Amino acid sequence: MALLQIRKYPDPILKQPAKPVTQIDDAVRSFIESMVQTMYAAPGIGLAAPQVGDSRRIIVIDADQENPGRRLLKLINPEVVEMHGKVTWEEACLSVVDYSSPVQRASHIVVKALTPDENELEIEAEEFLAVVFQHELDHLDGRLFIDRLSGLKRQLYRRKLQKLIKEGRLENYATAAARA
Ligand code: NI
Repeated sequence: MALLQIRKYPDPILKQPAKPVTQIDDAVRSFIESMVQTMYAAPGIGLAAPQVGDSRRIIVIDADQENPGRRLLKLINPEVVEMHGKVTWEEACLSVVDYSSPVQRASHIVVKALTPDENELEIEAEEFLAVVFQHELDHLDGRLFIDRLSGLKRQLYRRKLQKLIKEGRLENYATAAARA
C-alpha cells in the first residue's frame, strides 16, 4: 500500500474546509487504510484527510503509542456532540514543520461519526485524547493549531519557516510556500 504525501503549511489545501463523505465504498475504505499507514509511518498519532491532499471529512487517530492498533479510530464525517472544560497541551502537527506550542482546548469532548463499515459511533474523550480529537477536527475545518495562537506567535513561526526555506534546509516545502 502506497504511503500518501503529507502536505505542509502553507499548502492552501490545509486552509480549505473539507466536504462530507457522501458514500462509504471500497475506494473510501482503501483510502482510509492508506491514511492509517501514512500516520504510522510518519510517525503521528492522528491524521486528517486534507493533510494528504484530500478534502473530505475523514480522520484517523491512534493516541496509544505503546499498543499501536489497539485503539485505532477511523472516523468518517465526525461531529462534535458535546464539549466542555479547559485544558492546555503542547501541540505539534505533521503539517507544521519544526514547531510546537501550548494550545488551550476543551478537556472533554463527545464525538459522533461513521465507521468504515457504516456504523454510527459515539466516542467520549478526555484530556490528551480530547485534544487530539479537536486538533484533527480543526483540520477538517481548514484550521491548524497555529491558527489558535496569538498573531505574534504565528508571525514568528512564519518568519522561522521562511528562514529555513531560504537557507535551503526545507527544500521540500519551497513549492508549498510559493503557492500560499
Ligand atoms: Ni495536525
